[in-house]
Amino acid sequence: MILVWFEEAVGCPAIGEANAMCLATCTRDGKPSARMVLLKGFGQDGFRFFTNHESRKGKELSDSSSLGSPRSPFNTRCPAQVRIEGSVKRLPEEESERYFHSRPKSSQIGAVVSRQSTVIPDREYLRKKNMELEERYREVAVPKPEYWGGYILQPDVVEFWQGQTNRLHDRIVFRRLRDGSAPLGDMTHRGEGEWVFERFAP
Ligand SMILES: Cc1cc2nc3c(=O)[nH]c(=O)nc-3n(C[C@H](O)[C@H](O)[C@H](O)COP(=O)(O)O)c2cc1C
Repeated sequence: MILVWFEEAVGCPAIGEANAMCLATCTRDGKPSARMVLLKGFGQDGFRFFTNHESRKGKELSDSSSLGSPRSPFNTRCPAQVRIEGSVKRLPEEESERYFHSRPKSSQIGAVVSRQSTVIPDREYLRKKNMELEERYREVAVPKPEYWGGYILQPDVVEFWQGQTNRLHDRIVFRRLRDGSAPLGDMTHRGEGEWVFERFAP
């Protein structure tokens, strides 16, 4: 289902970056923040995105990991909404390394230039740093910064929301059965493998 909707969104000319999604994290004391990131792949194992480990989100992702109950909701937008919650893990360093070097050189340099979520004096500071690095790495590969890499969100809950013209929208929530999961009710349906699903009021 996600693949079908994703391909529809990618094929929709009105949508610029169909893989943009909203990533929400929170601090240890529960203060939330959200921002857009790009979905860079998904499969049975989860949903991949890349960012700066030292950014606000990077810190909050590792904080929540160390709490042992990391949860991270996502939304994609079209033709409806998909919301995913699950645990987030760092991708292996080799995978981040491979992905980093598959990007255009300008994007690699961009990742080195930007110590995400830190204060900088002005735009000129970024422009100068970018120029210096373009010069330094003109003939040689850009090393992936240690502070940059990927994450995989392994879903426990996936919700599909589809708007209907009469406002009686469809909202189907899949959840992975785990120890301690809410019990199966009369309105719970079996999905594939360890997944069950329920219809929620919209
Ligand atoms: C459409 C869009 C896509 C973005 N994609 C990414 C991304 O893939 N990775 C990333 O680190 N930041 C991405 N950003 C920037 C983030 O939204 C955010 O500004 C940045 O990661 C710093 O967030 P933080 O301070 O909360 O960690 C994107 C922004 C937009 C508007």
